[in-house]
Amino acid sequence: MIFVPTLTHGDVTVRSIRPRDASKISRLLKENRSWLEKWEATVPGFDGMPPVGDMIRGILRLARKDQVAPFVIEYRGEVVGQVTLSGLSFGSLASGAVGYWVAESFAGKGITPLAVALVGDWAFTTLGIHRVEVCIRPENEASLQIVRKLGMRYEGLRRRYIHIDGDWRDHFCFAITIDEVLGGLLAALLRGTANPSLADIPEADRIAARTPIR
Ligand SMILES: CC(C)(COP(=O)(O)OP(=O)(O)OC[C@H]1O[C@@H](n2cnc3c(N)ncnc32)[C@H](O)[C@@H]1OP(=O)(O)O)[C@@H](O)C(=O)NCCC(=O)NCCS
Repeated sequence: MIFVPTLTHGDVTVRSIRPRDASKISRLLKENRSWLEKWEATVPGFDGMPPVGDMIRGILRLARKDQVAPFVIEYRGEVVGQVTLSGLSFGSLASGAVGYWVAESFAGKGITPLAVALVGDWAFTTLGIHRVEVCIRPENEASLQIVRKLGMRYEGLRRRYIHIDGDWRDHFCFAITIDEVLGGLLAALLRGTANPSLADIPEADRIAARTPIR
């Protein structure tokens, strides 16, 4: 069972999601419907989202099986979003994928890069993960800024990779291994030593992502 810690830098804290977060998260998801839906994972063949309480119980079940580390993001003590390290594998792969969102009224404050850095450093130093990846829809310019700020390395275009907003969507994928960020993601972010050009996307992949494959 993964012990999901509470980690803080300045105004930003990440901590384990709890069943009692359901009403707050449910309200945020409703209020931010149009802000989030274009980027939200969906399940093929199902319309709508499960109740948030079910979602939290489901994700905590996966956490007990060491598959997911689910955090909420707090800003000055208020829940404003989520960051989730999922698809965890250990042993010879030792990798996980980070997903995140914040409420629109808290966007642009640098909350998410800090939250991802806190979770990434914990994954590297405590959880024993060797590689963290982030996959982003090509048109999600705000999210592409996150991987630039953290100096994550572009790995490639995955066609029709994740079911988002009702269909299989292409994603640009980025990763970083512990060997590439020995001093930690947070230190690199705060010192401004992360190299944003590692996240540059080759023009050929941008063109490919605009070209339907069916
Ligand atoms: C992507 C997202 C998590 C970024 O979080 P954040 O905490 O706002 O991150 P930052 O403050 O570093 O801002 C990132 C970029 O968002 C854009 N941005 C800034 N303020 C914004 C605002 N008020 N509204 C929209 N976008 C804004 C800017 O391009 C910024 O980059 P810059 O700092 O280089 O100018 C957030 O926009 C979000 O939750 N979006 C909807 C869900 C989503 O896309 N999740 C990720 C799926 S891969």
